[in-house]
Amino acid sequence: MSIRISRRKLLKILTGIGVVAVGASIGSLKILEFTRHEKEELTVEGELIKLPEPRKKSSLSIEEAIQSRRSRRSYTDDPVLLSDISQLCWAAQGITEAKIGFRAAPSAGALYPLEIFLVVGNSDLEAGVYYYSCGEHVLKRVKKGDYRKQLCEASLRQEWVENAALDFVITAIYSRTIAKYGERGRERYVPMEAGHVAENIYLQAESLGLGTVAIGAFYDDQVREVISAPSEHIPLYVMPIGHIRIR
Ligand SMILES: Cc1cc2nc3c(=O)[nH]c(=O)nc-3n(C[C@H](O)[C@H](O)[C@H](O)COP(=O)(O)O)c2cc1C
Repeated sequence: MSIRISRRKLLKILTGIGVVAVGASIGSLKILEFTRHEKEELTVEGELIKLPEPRKKSSLSIEEAIQSRRSRRSYTDDPVLLSDISQLCWAAQGITEAKIGFRAAPSAGALYPLEIFLVVGNSDLEAGVYYYSCGEHVLKRVKKGDYRKQLCEASLRQEWVENAALDFVITAIYSRTIAKYGERGRERYVPMEAGHVAENIYLQAESLGLGTVAIGAFYDDQVREVISAPSEHIPLYVMPIGHIRIR
């Protein structure tokens, strides 16, 4: 179906209703689809930690980051600072377009099924489990304490999970995408999106002189228990973060 609509009205619809797949040509705009995207954030009562503003420049080019990226499993005991945590959260799921709320990593239908949790042990941020709220670029504390050992146990005792300063855990709420795309959402789109986010974390870590590795081998229930996530959260990746011991 083709509808003629002014740019001004389109903008109003986009910002008011939400996203969105739009095919546009000069003079006529073909609206393919609109879907309301309700942000379903985790309700966390804990303390809010405001993250520093992410930087948009670095001394390493994107080409250099791609060239040098490796999965790194050996880390020093140096803490990973809040400023670097902020940068990594932004690269993973940060809002990069404020009007509509598009994020750093692409998402089918802009439905954003992925959520980010942090299991922090060695940082200027107090040890604990945190949830990244991308809308306000803040961390919400889920619980206090160092849970890296438990996460390591849940990850088939892969020691780099415990030795890292902190671990990212990427979970998915599949229903957000399945509601629109059905099985294709489950089998393809959601896991594809985790890959996009993980690669952003890899490249951002590389740029910060930090190391990470994408871990897919773990017990889902145990990981979920460590991060105290509701049952609809399916863990897709654990990503340790630390200063690189051997380059
Ligand atoms: C889906 C997926 C699952 C992975 N799971 C693990 C894992 O459980 N543990 C681990 O140490 N590395 C894991 N890796 C990292 C791979 O071993 C690594 O990417 C591969 O050896 C290539 O090395 P590179 O990343 O340095 O290029 C995983 C990678 C992917 C893409």
